[in-house]
Amino acid sequence: MRFLSLAIIASLSLIELVQGQSSQHVLSSATEKKRPNILFIFTDDQDYRMDSLSYMPNVQKYLVDQGTTYTNHYATVSVCCPSRVSLLRGQFAHNTNITHVMEPYGGYDRFNALGLGEDYLPLWLQAAGYSTNYIGKLMNGVSVHNWETAPKGWDYQDQLLDPYTYVYNTPVFSKDGQSPVFYENSYQTDIIHGKAKAALKKLNNTEEPFFLWVSPMAPHGQFVINPNDPKDITSEPPIPAQRHKNLFQDVKVPRTANFNPDVQGKTASYFNDLPKLDENQTDFLDHTYRSRLRALQAVDEMVGTLFQQLEEQGQLEDTYIFYSADNGYHLGQHRTPAGKTTNMEEDINVPLIIRGPGIAKGAVSDLVSTHESLAPTFLALANAEDKLPSWIDGGVIPITSALKQHPLQASTETFSVEFWSDVVAWENSETLFSPGANTYKTLRIVGPNYDYSYAVWCTGEHELFDIKHLSQNDPYQTQNIYKQATDRFINRLDALLLVLKSCKAESCRNPWKILHEQDKIGSLPQALSKDLDDFYATLPKVKYDHCTGYYDYENEAPHFGDTALAAESPKQATVVNNPRKSQQREVPPQNIVDLFSLIPVPEETGEFMVDDDFESRARPVPEELKETIVDWSKYGFYSFGS
Ligand SMILES: *[C@@H]1O[C@H](CO)[C@@H](O)[C@H](O)[C@H]1NC(C)=O
Ligand SMILES: *[C@@H]1O[C@H](CO)[C@@H](O)[C@H](O)[C@H]1NC(C)=O
Ligand SMILES: *[C@@H]1O[C@H](CO)[C@@H](O)[C@H](O)[C@H]1NC(C)=O
Repeated sequence: MRFLSLAIIASLSLIELVQGQSSQHVLSSATEKKRPNILFIFTDDQDYRMDSLSYMPNVQKYLVDQGTTYTNHYATVSVCCPSRVSLLRGQFAHNTNITHVMEPYGGYDRFNALGLGEDYLPLWLQAAGYSTNYIGKLMNGVSVHNWETAPKGWDYQDQLLDPYTYVYNTPVFSKDGQSPVFYENSYQTDIIHGKAKAALKKLNNTEEPFFLWVSPMAPHGQFVINPNDPKDITSEPPIPAQRHKNLFQDVKVPRTANFNPDVQGKTASYFNDLPKLDENQTDFLDHTYRSRLRALQAVDEMVGTLFQQLEEQGQLEDTYIFYSADNGYHLGQHRTPAGKTTNMEEDINVPLIIRGPGIAKGAVSDLVSTHESLAPTFLALANAEDKLPSWIDGGVIPITSALKQHPLQASTETFSVEFWSDVVAWENSETLFSPGANTYKTLRIVGPNYDYSYAVWCTGEHELFDIKHLSQNDPYQTQNIYKQATDRFINRLDALLLVLKSCKAESCRNPWKILHEQDKIGSLPQALSKDLDDFYATLPKVKYDHCTGYYDYENEAPHFGDTALAAESPKQATVVNNPRKSQQREVPPQNIVDLFSLIPVPEETGEFMVDDDFESRARPVPEELKETIVDWSKYGFYSFGS
């Protein structure tokens, strides 16, 4: 009997093996011809929670109505450069150690110094035989000085350059590591629009499938420098294209329960000290909101063009189109001036809409996912997951029935959000930095009947919000219920955060498995079994020794499973100086303004015609600007929480 069943099992697995081999064979020969293209449209600072997508008719028509909107997609570090690097590497910020927008904890030079650009998304896609293409803003610190060190892995790239990245009417680009050019009398999004259309046209004639990432800076705020007072560097609401500047005159920031509340329900760290905003301030937030919606109109026009172009080329049905943003944004929620970087939902929950083969049309999904999982998902769609390194933290998001079977599943229940800063940065505001530590770890845990946000701040404060947005518990995080919660419940959440705050690879995808070393426990309801009370009570608690503005491993000890994870201990952050940076010299502010002004910053530009020969407006960037090495960030050019 026993022998018989073994024999049956053996023969069954043999059949499976044969079937597996043959279907794999069919799959790979079919996919050699039919691997999908991927178009990734990626905005900067676009919110999901304040309804910005509703004001984008082409996004509605081509993406929302023809694809699936994912309501639970998150950026896990809510600021541009760290979030982009996490996406490019499929790694949480505690593993990239890119935790800020500029030196010494972030920026493009540090990205290179840490070797992060030697092993990342475009190189994996290239190895998989894709044509890789990038247009727009990659990350902070790609500039008029370091353009020669073009990011690796792009067959075609057209990079936006600092210090003009955040100036809407002064588009400055370097194409494929060539000397920078600026476009006269042009609006940045329109130039990206023209370049993206031209790229698609060209890609119609390539043998291999393509990956095209289009990354406009809109609706990010604009940087301004006062020529009469060079120290007066600040930011202002985004500048729309002329043709959009009068739209939406009556629109205001949605007055949700957390908008400038009478009673401040979110009180950790600096939140506790935020006074209620006055009418002038809320008027200004409404103006900022309208400016953002107006700036997004040029993005929406581009979306329309790119879909029409794909359709004309007969490629629409073989292309996945992803739409997302690097991080979210807040305007007045919990009494805040404009900005991001906090752990509130407005800052971390970002748009994700996907259209393509096997994706339901007009659907809304509450599947949980994060930016770390986009790269593995692209590779899985390209049938090339073998090109992913073993250290990747993200997993495959089960967006199609084929990907539901993929062995490298992303967690669809838990992830952590993290941040490190000594101050909190506001935008378009008189006080750009408020004192108050902005260093925290946040667990997000979402299941069929639960949705919690649990945070530990470096100040020792805790937060617990019962979010559940569909059934309306506290979607706006107005009540911190940490003190009302039972110890046994908090012990579970804290244990998950303990694992996730320093997780690597599999422990990020399945923190329960590290806690229980087996597959028996796989969700919060299972872990709440009474039998496990003692186990969870004995685990150390997440804590900081003191507040720091960067990721200090010792300061955040203990780390659960240190020994298990030690095999891949954090890469030592020895930053070699960029050779050009070492020649850096102090430039008095007036010289800086003069240099910056070598490229005109017009207040407005003419109307854009998609079919214009816009490349004829390209002019070389003056030599003096390229050659005079300036640490622009030192003068505030890209330090405003961007
Ligand atoms: C709003 O600001 C304007 C100009 O800065 C000022 O004149 C006015 O008094 C302010 N109003 C309130 C209600 O603070
Ligand atoms: C795109 O390429 C396809 C296949 O080679 C061709 O049939 C089609 O005419 C091209 N379309 C455009 C707009 O270039
Ligand atoms: C992150 O980088 C900073 C600055 O280079 C360094 O001091 C810190 O030790 C690094 N953290 C880890 C965990 O490697």
